[in-house]
Amino acid sequence: MTAFRTLDQADVKGKRVLVRVDLNVPKENGRVTDATRIERVLPTIREIADKGGRVILLAHFGRPKGRDPKESLKPVAEAVSQHLGKPVAFADDCIGEAAAGAVAALKDGDVLLLENTRFHAGEEKNDAGFVQELAKLGDIYVNDAFSAAHRAHASTEGLARALPAYAGRTMQAELDALTKGLETPKRPVVAIVGGAKVSTKIDLLENLVAKVDALVIGGGMANTFVHATGLNIGKSLAEKDLAATAMRIIEKARASNCAIILPVDGVCAYEFKAGAHNQTYGIDAIPEDQMILDVGSQSVERICAAINDAATLVWNGPLGAFEIPPFDQGTVAAARHAARRTKEGKLVSVAGGGDTVAALNHAGVTESFSYVSTAGGAFLEWLEGKALPGVEALRA
Ligand code: 3PG
Ligand code: MG
Repeated sequence: MTAFRTLDQADVKGKRVLVRVDLNVPKENGRVTDATRIERVLPTIREIADKGGRVILLAHFGRPKGRDPKESLKPVAEAVSQHLGKPVAFADDCIGEAAAGAVAALKDGDVLLLENTRFHAGEEKNDAGFVQELAKLGDIYVNDAFSAAHRAHASTEGLARALPAYAGRTMQAELDALTKGLETPKRPVVAIVGGAKVSTKIDLLENLVAKVDALVIGGGMANTFVHATGLNIGKSLAEKDLAATAMRIIEKARASNCAIILPVDGVCAYEFKAGAHNQTYGIDAIPEDQMILDVGSQSVERICAAINDAATLVWNGPLGAFEIPPFDQGTVAAARHAARRTKEGKLVSVAGGGDTVAALNHAGVTESFSYVSTAGGAFLEWLEGKALPGVEALRA
């Protein structure tokens, strides 16, 4: 994407490069339990260090209110160092003397991580004074944290306006993939949207029906749609008060020539429990005392057919209760089918969102998709058609 300055345009040699990364990784008992986000930012760190830049990593962790040792990035510095295969220095503040001293000690090619930016209120307020304190530490700014780009914070937005700013390699890959997914996609485009609730995805659904050629609705939110069309959904999870919203989305889809693909059958059980006794019923024959926990095999066939008709797939949210087998089967089958089509070169597949990544990992297909975003909120806001402050600030 030419609209963004990238590392190709940056002269980093001998420069102090402030690199915003997303190190908001899952941790248990002080140890990082999933290093995906760390792995994703290594290429940018390596490239800048190899070119003789002095890498100063900026990141947030958790949502602390002020300084909180539990939300320190110190253990994460050790994890980054392990994955990078070279030392990563750590400063226990991201501004002031501690930070300035650590930066001054850097030699070309060195890497330093500064303490959690959210220990200062100025971060989330995007406070001009705090931005200046950060800006003092660097000559140029690189943002490699797409997953935090929906936040207009000092380290994600303010700094990009205070220093010469560039997209890191992961940010660049993410923007490329997202552009291919929805802005200038190869048509037809099918979107799969699942997850529990319509209420959290109204804007997203409204944006998608205006842009894609077909929309598959699955997961708990499909129940709300099925109920809205006048069918009985038994004890299934649903937001019945959103029936009118669901109908409005169906109407908007019709007006935009977007096919809506709802389940035609459901795998039902008496209780929400792994291994619960289950049976598949037609969507117009859901028993009063049972709940739908997954899409049935006929629905899966229709979803696979929709994938076959498409050149591009955008996926957010599982199709069923994938965390409690056997109700993962619909999601797994559709994900594997999409992975096959992608491998055959017939489909560009872009997926994102926390549960979605977990579901694709579970199906063993993450590597086979064209692009899987580690972003949660940022990916959703992008699907909603919203401008992301951290991305906007990088536009050339
Ligand atoms: C995330 O984990 O989704 C990002 O790091 C953003 O974190 P936030 O939702 O606390 O801003
Ligand atoms: Mg989040």
